Amino acid sequence: MPNANYATEVLISADAIRAKIAEMGRAIAAQHGGGRLICVGVLKGSFMFLADLVRAIPLPELEVDFIAVSSYVGTESTGVVRITHDLARSIEGEHVLLVEDIVDTGLTVRYLLDNLATRHPRSLKVAALLEKPARARVQVPVDFKGFTIEDQFVVGYGLDYDGRLRNLDHVALLTPR
Ligand code: IMP
Repeated sequence: MPNANYATEVLISADAIRAKIAEMGRAIAAQHGGGRLICVGVLKGSFMFLADLVRAIPLPELEVDFIAVSSYVGTESTGVVRITHDLARSIEGEHVLLVEDIVDTGLTVRYLLDNLATRHPRSLKVAALLEKPARARVQVPVDFKGFTIEDQFVVGYGLDYDGRLRNLDHVALLTPR
């Protein structure tokens, strides 16, 4: 256990995640018109989801890139995030799939969609493993969704609590004890 103050409880099992990602991968491939698809993982939280998702997308011309963002600058209400690591290549004229771990308030995805759109991709879609509609501050189009969850703080499968617990193979709730 991480420390004496909390334990974790399985919310979404590794098997359930695997099955959902297989479904999402098939849907992404089926809706892709052809040509290159650049999957952009939002670091750090989406690294595990991205790794499993791309293996479930049977497209020959799939490429992977990463973008990293810091938390909100100032208050959450501004929705301004800082890009701390940018894409390695241009996405002009490319089909892009933004791969996010969780859409909580929606501010991060909103910011990234606006930012990436200025780079003139041919298409720009979003895949998110988790969505917390109760916390939505802005509506963002999520083209490929995994699971909808309640307004609960979750960890594991890439998601952290203070930098830890990303290495769980499932999504868990933190439970105080
Ligand atoms: P946003 O509120 O939609 O902008 O989400 C911002 C980021 O907060 C997400 O990409 C996650 O990294 C993080 N986050 C939101 N909810 C949770 C959670 O329940 N557990 C861990 N991280 C979260």
